[in-house]
Amino acid sequence: MVNTIEWTPEGVVMIDQTKLPSEETFLVCRDYVEVADAIRRMVIRGAPAIGCAAAMGVAIGVLKADDSELDTRFEEICDTLAATRPTAVNLFWAIDRMRGVYKSLRARGADLSEIRQALVDEACRVLEEDIDSNRALGRYGADLLPASGTVMTHCNAGALATGGYGTALGVIRAAVEAGNSLDVLANETRPFMQGSRLTVWELQQDGIPVTLLTDNMAGHLMQRGRVQAIVVGADRIAANGDVANKIGTYSLAVLARENEIPFYVAAPTTTVDLQLESGAEIPIEERSADEVTQIRGHQIAPLATQVCNPAFDVTPNRYVTAIITEKGVARAPYVAALKALCEGQSVAVEA
Ligand code: MRU
Repeated sequence: MVNTIEWTPEGVVMIDQTKLPSEETFLVCRDYVEVADAIRRMVIRGAPAIGCAAAMGVAIGVLKADDSELDTRFEEICDTLAATRPTAVNLFWAIDRMRGVYKSLRARGADLSEIRQALVDEACRVLEEDIDSNRALGRYGADLLPASGTVMTHCNAGALATGGYGTALGVIRAAVEAGNSLDVLANETRPFMQGSRLTVWELQQDGIPVTLLTDNMAGHLMQRGRVQAIVVGADRIAANGDVANKIGTYSLAVLARENEIPFYVAAPTTTVDLQLESGAEIPIEERSADEVTQIRGHQIAPLATQVCNPAFDVTPNRYVTAIITEKGVARAPYVAALKALCEGQSVAVEA
């Protein structure tokens, strides 16, 4: 399985997802500004992977910072990383976690070398825990998929979007590992093409059969009985179970309901934001017009075309069959189920 991100003595190393699938190159970020830039440019993307990058960004920032005015520098590092992308809550969760470690060590007067080492260790733990969570949620989710058939997914919620193994693709991987005979329909996911560039590449590496669709083909295939389940990831899940995910997810969920296809969301609890009552409060990132008017630098619309480019949409909880987390499977009513899961109680998996 691909190493999405790694802490090394040279710096934070990440596979450059803007170059996949044509080039497998790795970017070494030697300070926090480079990590922030990599998140913004989507060299690394996907909610849990962004969280891992932010944690390592904080660690490398403090490692390289001057001893003087470290508290001020620490807040600058956190603010810079927090300003990269607004939707995935894992980014803010990871920064808060790093801040907690920093503040508690400062409060007890730890020396700076101890603080620096503790932050590096914490960032590596964020990565390891994310991989463990994905394997756990994969096992819960595998039980929900058919023994054989076709599963549709959107965007890339795989190893590349996480510390490793993946959320939606983690569920598919776990089901295949358990012996299910599945093939995958991957939507290309305009405009950034995470489906065609990343999901197809990733599944091909694993030998899981995958067929690529353009986004506007999904409804037709559902109507013709070619889809037995849909599994997607999430960037932020509100307390009521509304799900922000890659643009186009909402349309799929509505089509799934129309065609009586189960629609599953797979995400670690680090993606659940209990502070927000509903999805209406989730900030939706608007990205640059070039992503829509160009493909890899090639202009495909008239110059100076006015563009709308929301990177995410919100699927209302009523379209979500279940939310699969590392602590169990939540079903409606989501307010109680998500609260119980996030507070650590396990919730039984129903068939
Ligand atoms: O803009 P991206 O590529 O960061 O968006 C990614 C998604 O929407 C994923 O589906 C989501 O982050 C879940 S990744 C496990």
